[in-house]
Amino acid sequence: MERMSKQRILFVCLGNICRSPSAEAVFTGLVKQAGLLNQIEIDSAGTSGFHAGEPADRRMQSHAIKRGYNLTSLSRPVDRVNDFDDFDMIIGMDDSNMDNLNQMAPTLEATQKLYKMTDFCTRFDYDHVPDPYYGGSEGFELVLDLLEDACEGLLEEVKNRLK
Ligand code: 4NP
Repeated sequence: MERMSKQRILFVCLGNICRSPSAEAVFTGLVKQAGLLNQIEIDSAGTSGFHAGEPADRRMQSHAIKRGYNLTSLSRPVDRVNDFDDFDMIIGMDDSNMDNLNQMAPTLEATQKLYKMTDFCTRFDYDHVPDPYYGGSEGFELVLDLLEDACEGLLEEVKNRLK
């Protein structure tokens, strides 16, 4: 296969204030450890613009920081034209995200860039990353557990694509 010099990964959830900014931070940490920050670009976005311009949810931030993840990104909505061009993989957190992303995709070909985060899990048997917004602290911990698992599997996939 032709050598890919760069891979661009976009994480997507509903609000872009809980799950996808956390995925961005967890994956950035792993990519940094692997010494691949110059070859992998990472961003996140929401299927809704409800929270555009806002930092990550404070509860999500406080759970994340305890594991060493600093959530710094500001919420933005998915850009249906540019994001499907710019990114190699667009990764949703649950089936509702996947439905929305499939609707937004400008072409059939673009839908081939879509993946669900839990498909990269190897330890946890979940088919989605549950929305923690209306629940308690255990929901935020579960988000981080699932994301840490999935990000490891994802990094293996992205490394293969860089070969
Ligand atoms: P996220 O969580 O999709 O993981 O960022 C949510 C954030 C906000 C809302 C729902 C989920 N909301 O309804 O405002």
